Amino acid sequence: MSLKNRLVRSATYEAKADPDGKPTQLYFDFYKRLANGGVGLIITGLTYPEEDGKLPRTIAVDRADCLETIKQIPETIHGVGNDCKVALQIGHTGRQLPATVDRQPVAPSPILEPFTERMPREMKSHEIEAFIEKSAAAIGYAKRAGFDAVQVHAAHGWLLSSFLSPHTNHRKDQFGGKTENRARIMTEIIRQAKDLIGMDFPVLVKMNACDFLESGIELAEALELGEIFEESGYAALEISSGMWETITRDPEDIGWRAERIPEARKRIGTVADEAYHRRFARAFRQKMQRAKIILVGGMKTPSLMDEIVCCGDADLVALSRPLIREPDLPNRWLNGGSERASCISCNQCLETLREEEGLRCYLL
Ligand SMILES: Cc1cc2nc3c(=O)[nH]c(=O)nc-3n(C[C@H](O)[C@H](O)[C@H](O)COP(=O)(O)O)c2cc1C
Repeated sequence: MSLKNRLVRSATYEAKADPDGKPTQLYFDFYKRLANGGVGLIITGLTYPEEDGKLPRTIAVDRADCLETIKQIPETIHGVGNDCKVALQIGHTGRQLPATVDRQPVAPSPILEPFTERMPREMKSHEIEAFIEKSAAAIGYAKRAGFDAVQVHAAHGWLLSSFLSPHTNHRKDQFGGKTENRARIMTEIIRQAKDLIGMDFPVLVKMNACDFLESGIELAEALELGEIFEESGYAALEISSGMWETITRDPEDIGWRAERIPEARKRIGTVADEAYHRRFARAFRQKMQRAKIILVGGMKTPSLMDEIVCCGDADLVALSRPLIREPDLPNRWLNGGSERASCISCNQCLETLREEEGLRCYLL
């Protein structure tokens, strides 16, 4: 896949699908604006290959007959006509199923999720196998539907992230224990997908460089995981951090200055607060041979992003919140504007996900 620029729209849950998991007019309008705004690659918000792992009002990719509806997504984005590419993000909520959803969450192991205070049920191995198969099938649907790529969401404590992390995966079978076993669910997804659709379709992964939990993933192990992913055929690694559980810890304990949600940190007041995963991305860039490295987290200043890419700390930079507020931000910068993004990282956009229209900038 070749992109017209190195600016990526990081996956952002938009809550604009209908109850059957089909995109609505609101969904298409939202993505048309983004595609018009100049970003090189849009990664959609999380979609679900399995009903059990869905977030409310997200897109279904859990059966072949969703093809007819999901193909309208790349049609809409490509139809804008300015060479914007689109990747479908797939994943599963796992133990972080929102407290408002009335079903028991599933996870690799039954470990209490302290943010929602819910106890997940341990997945049986046949359920894991079924999820792998459904994920591979969803990657196949995405290719047939005309998406340019897929991203597998294995960050932020959702199901796949909780398989990777020794904090949440205490299994004794082939999906638990040593690093390679905890990574098995990811390597199987891509192996089965490539068997189905061939090797010429880019599959990306979003992963944690650090869980910020005592018994979680640290950078050294994340780099090992990165090598396993690269070896198994993932084309790019988007580097993030944290789980919901991290939020329940004292920020001082885990060594980050700004408070709340590590992957979408608040209070990014100065340029020095931006690009808070940069040192992790740099470590990945130095270690990986082929996979492209995407840096996400807190970036707002174009000259900083330029410098990150030019000095080789990352191949691409990804933005989420700034593009909720200003979908045409890349065009502003491409047309010579050099001012920072006007998003103030207040995270109130997360609250709008419960509103009827779904995601929006709370302050506009
Ligand atoms: C409203 C909202 C929804 C999000 N939804 C997703 C998602 O569906 N998938 C995902 O991988 N990350 C999701 N994220 C995390 C972002 O992709 C990104 O990693 C994080 O916000 C940091 O980037 P930023 O500082 O540019 O916002 C979401 C973040 C926000 C604020």
